[in-house]
Amino acid sequence: MKKIKLFDPHVGKKEKESVQKVLDSHFWASGAGTNSVKKFEDKFKKYVKSKDCVAVNSGTAALNLALSLSDVKNKEVIVPSLTFVSTINAIVLNEGKPIFCDIDPNTGCISIDDIKNTITKKTVAILPVHFGGLACDLKNIEKICKDSKLTLIEDAAHAAGTSFNGKKIGSHGKFVCFSFHPVKNLAMPTGGLISINDKNFKNMKNRLNSKRWCGITNRKGLSYDVKELGDNYYMNEFSAAIGLNQLEHLDEMNRKRITIAKKYEEKICIDKKIPFDKNCSYHLYWILVKNRTKFIKKMNENGIEVGIHYKPAHQMSLYRNQTKLPVTEEFGKKIVSLPIHPNLTNSDVDKIIKSVNKYA
Ligand SMILES: Cc1ncc(COP(=O)(O)O)c(C=O)c1O
Repeated sequence: MKKIKLFDPHVGKKEKESVQKVLDSHFWASGAGTNSVKKFEDKFKKYVKSKDCVAVNSGTAALNLALSLSDVKNKEVIVPSLTFVSTINAIVLNEGKPIFCDIDPNTGCISIDDIKNTITKKTVAILPVHFGGLACDLKNIEKICKDSKLTLIEDAAHAAGTSFNGKKIGSHGKFVCFSFHPVKNLAMPTGGLISINDKNFKNMKNRLNSKRWCGITNRKGLSYDVKELGDNYYMNEFSAAIGLNQLEHLDEMNRKRITIAKKYEEKICIDKKIPFDKNCSYHLYWILVKNRTKFIKKMNENGIEVGIHYKPAHQMSLYRNQTKLPVTEEFGKKIVSLPIHPNLTNSDVDKIIKSVNKYA
């Protein structure tokens, strides 16, 4: 029986050729961020229309660095609990306090009402996650940030190619953090990026360039200085070369995901599922099912891999506290991700629909 994978990156001829070219060049990586890394940053900046971009080696690194420039120490950052745990870890690693916020039951994205209930005098930033690739209500979030003087840092790990109000995600918040992990819509062996939208962007770009390479700055010939702490977060040439090709057809690959999402929307007979939105990148296609264990077993028996995104962060041992998030907790029990990627055939999609309608 053919196995239908939950995630599967698009691998074209050009990706293969670009990897060979980097191999043959013997120039595989450099903390200086030259060659393909620089080209990728420039191309991504044009794609999302932001002020500047800094490529790094993961979405986690992007979040860690964006928060390191946001002065969150001993302050509160409002964040959804339904996310990959590195969103939360990044706040704590920068000595901030994550304040978990509930989600909207229709979108899986952060609840605007709950953000308003959660703001205190200690709040300094909001860190929404464009869950599954569906844009959060940035109009209201931007208004809240403006009114309460809060920094907007977006976790756009799922949202490469998503638009909100006619603008690509990457062009809104002060820092927008992308992941290019192999399962993501724009896939690399490992990679991430911080898109910057701030009038002070030149200074931020310089600091981020230095912080992604152990703090190294003021390079002149063989000498350099270190003025602030950094880490080994730079992107390698293989990732950047693959990413340049992936970016070339990101919109086309996302259109395939949207076509599948439309079919799921029309044919999957289940009450709770990610809404249809042609501006969504559909990194995930989530549904809520009552008996998840049984459902997953049946799907696997039929050769269909499914996933759980996510066990809520506030239920992890490290972050467990008194916080009650009823909608997030319901999602945590029932959420399942179905395969949605450009390599699915029509018959794969039909089989997935048939199986979900039979077993959910
Ligand atoms: C919502 C979210 N945030 C952050 C990350 C971290 O990205 P990476 O795996 O590239 O470090 C991921 C990746 O899984 C993610 O899904």
